[in-house]
Amino acid sequence: MKKNPQLKTLVPSATLALNQKAKMMQSQGMKVYNFTAGEPDFPTPKRICDAAKDAMDKGYTKYTPAAGISQLRQAIANKYTRECKRDHQASHVMVSNGGKQVLFNLFFSFLAPEDEVILFAPYWVSYKSLVEMCGGKAIVIDTQPEHYFVPSIDQIKSKISDRTRFIVVNSPCNPTGSVYPKSFLDDLSMLLKDHPNLICVSDDMYENFVFDPCSFDSLARNNRLNLDQLVIVNGVSKSFSMTGWRIGYAVANKEIIDMMTQVQSQSTSNASSISQWAALEAIEGSNPQEQLAMKNIFQKRRDLIYKKIKEIPSLSCLLPDGAFYLFVDFRKVLERVQGNNWSDIELAQYFLEEYQVAMVPGSAFGSPGFMRLSYGLSDEDIVNGVDRLHEGLKSLESLS
Ligand SMILES: Cc1ncc(COP(=O)(O)O)c(C=O)c1O
Repeated sequence: MKKNPQLKTLVPSATLALNQKAKMMQSQGMKVYNFTAGEPDFPTPKRICDAAKDAMDKGYTKYTPAAGISQLRQAIANKYTRECKRDHQASHVMVSNGGKQVLFNLFFSFLAPEDEVILFAPYWVSYKSLVEMCGGKAIVIDTQPEHYFVPSIDQIKSKISDRTRFIVVNSPCNPTGSVYPKSFLDDLSMLLKDHPNLICVSDDMYENFVFDPCSFDSLARNNRLNLDQLVIVNGVSKSFSMTGWRIGYAVANKEIIDMMTQVQSQSTSNASSISQWAALEAIEGSNPQEQLAMKNIFQKRRDLIYKKIKEIPSLSCLLPDGAFYLFVDFRKVLERVQGNNWSDIELAQYFLEEYQVAMVPGSAFGSPGFMRLSYGLSDEDIVNGVDRLHEGLKSLESLS
């Protein structure tokens, strides 16, 4: 059947594909060091599971308003009122089936054919596909490890055109773990003030994973941008280890929220009622100790995996300040095995098939030559998995 021309560039999510292959090998009894997961490896806290059970017992198992139950929308508005020190109301919030659907609703609602969305590469795998599925054009700005994967304001300025509708900012960043400095957020908000029709999408999905001595900051804070020019995308997937519950949300001005809600009402109606009640407990009953404990574990793992990777001479990487990923430079390795004409995708396949080490190739994030390693796995698996990787590299280098 002839497919929708807007889907001509659509590719399956590389992260999901590799993760699935790794899981299939595991189900066949193989020990796989799976560094592909985009999720914390902790169970969802018991208080949140109990709230879901309670919701079922109370019969909260029916359709909800398309934008979400009022209690959850209000709880999210309260969180942002508190954190951004300005008034937010429930009408500024809509709840979707994960942050992914929030972004889909947004781009589908507001992109006309050929409208442009600025992304910084390496970018989260789905941004580009979502923009293109909705008829828009992704304008990609390359960032480099030498600059901590932060673009310059001049680079951004040079990409803004009459067709630019959105600019997507994701800090802490998936896949690099970079946390954008305060000065960058200040300068970007100043630049955006000169372009009042341009909307900044602040994807704050990893807000809970910012390591000492840094702290979370965003374009929504410190009076940088108000809701005339800002759409905040967030959710409970990462912060509360709830990826399977599928709850994400947008905070934006009422016009944007109403349009996104209309789109959602004609596509999926509403996010799961039970998950919404669970998310309400996650956000309202939020316990700083619980979140701190999870962050501290990730910080220790980050230090561990960084130290292990630094011991491998052919690899290099930055010490990221956030999220739970290391974005490792494999370009020297690829240069050495160039006789094989391998891309980073073939290299990732080699490590998975021959050494049972699963990683996501950088080309999935618009930055070929790198690999993303998630450290959502135990210390023991991190140590043994990186040792396996080292072994695989040595044998590859001895062949080349
Ligand atoms: C940067 C970023 N934004 C948004 C999402 C979407 O998360 P979810 O749809 O699970 O809420 C993810 C998930 O990996 C992500 O990494």
